[in-house]
Parts: sequence; structure tokens; C-alpha cells
Amino acid sequence: MTVIPNIVILTGAGISAESGIATFRGPGGLWEGHRVEDVCTPEALAADPNLVHLFYDRRRAALADVVPNAAHAALARLDRAWSGELLIVTQNVDDLHERAGAVRLLHMHGALKQALCAGCGERFDWQGDLPPGTACPACATRALRPDIVFFGEIPYHMDRIEAALAEADLFVSIGTSGAVYPAAGFVRMAREYGGATLELNLDRSEGSGWFDESRLGPAGQLVPEWVEQMLSR
Ligand code: APR
Repeated sequence: MTVIPNIVILTGAGISAESGIATFRGPGGLWEGHRVEDVCTPEALAADPNLVHLFYDRRRAALADVVPNAAHAALARLDRAWSGELLIVTQNVDDLHERAGAVRLLHMHGALKQALCAGCGERFDWQGDLPPGTACPACATRALRPDIVFFGEIPYHMDRIEAALAEADLFVSIGTSGAVYPAAGFVRMAREYGGATLELNLDRSEGSGWFDESRLGPAGQLVPEWVEQMLSR
């Protein structure tokens, strides 16, 4: 009997780069012209809610102009076809994995198309702009904010992710710089649990040395090739 490996896949901004979404640590270290600290911390939200809300309003609106690329499509295909356990964990707040058809998917850093109530903690699907002071549909507190996990906040679904890593025979990291924890530590966790590790990235990342194998190139090419390899086993 052939044993089907359990797979955990971590994705980062690099998988959406070929769709036209800027990565975080691009030239100059700016994210769409802003320092990450100015738009991605609780302090920034408190200091200048208009700037932070507007920033995410623009990112949310920009999703209408992009489409999933070959890498998102290949992962969705693997998700549909793979009969073993499989989990795609994305650090991305765009919706390109789900638009490509991925189902076994967790957004660990939140999602642009969701709002979070800072009052009651409820989360809501959200389309369009989200001005500061918008009332929560559940508790009516005027404290809705973008559902983005800021630096210093705890990422979502950590229990489920760690449980999946413990069972993973293969951990694959795609398009992430390995600069931000806890995601950057998943490769070591997977290794400690005995899983094989593979990195698919444009260039060597901060964590490359932890992987059994690193393949360098654009996700739009490497991911379909790897998925084909997995499905033709
Ligand atoms: N194909 C594959 N990899 C690519 C491509 C591509 N076409 N283009 C860029 N990359 C790689 C880069 O070489 C880099 O290693 O993707 C990585 C992107 O790194 P970051 O910009 O740091 O993005 P990410 O790792 O997702 O950032 C992690 O940091 O600011 C926070 O919360 C934010 O989720 C984000 C987290």
C-alpha cells in the first residue's frame, strides 16, 4: 500500500508578485511607498487611523485589478487532487488563493476582505472602503478595523498550523523571505517533527539554510512544475 504524504504549504508575498501585487521587502524596503511600521502596527493605527484605514482601502480596491497566476492555480489543483492531508497557510492578505479555488487554506495574517471589531472581536466579510469609526454589525461599537494581523499581534490559527506541521511529511515554503516570525520558524518546526522541507523562491531567503532543498526561480514556473511532480508520483 502506498502511503500518501501529508503536506503543509506556506506562501508569502512572492507567490502573488507575478499577479502584480508588490512584495513587502522590495526595493528600498517600502510596502507600496510606506514603511511597514507606519501602516502595519497597532501604534500606527492609534496614531493615524485615517492613514492606516486608507492604506488598506487602497489595497482592498486593488484586488479588483489582479487575478491569480499559474502558481495559485497549481496549488488549487493540488488541493483538489491530493487525497492525503494538505494545508495551505498563507501570510498574504490578498484573496488570490481562494479565487484560484484553494479550499484547505488558512490566512494567518488576516485578510483584506475582512473587518475585525476591536470591541467584541467578531470578524466580518467586507467589500469596499472601511472608514475609521465604522460601527460593528454585531455590537455597534464604532471600532471596526481592517482584519490585518499587525506586528506585535498574534497570528491566526496557530494551533491548527502547529498540529498540521506535527503531522507533515513534507513542508513547502513558497515566495517568502523568512524574515517574519512565527512563519519563519515553521521550517525548523517541520524538521523537528521529522518532515522533509522544500523551498521555492525567487532567490535565497533568510531561512534557505534550513531547507533540505531550495529551488530558485519564479513561483509561476516552479510551483506548477512541483505540483506536476507531486501528482505524477
Ligand atoms: N516568485 C517566487 N518568489 C518571489 C517572486 C516570484 N515571482 N518575487 C519575489 N519573490 C520572493 C522574494 O525573493 C522574497 O524572498 O518572495 C519573497 C517576498 O518576501 P517579503 O516581501 O518579505 O514577503 P513575505 O515573506 O510574505 O513577508 C512576510 O511580513 O510585513 C510582513 O505581514 C507581512 O505577511 C508579511 C510578512
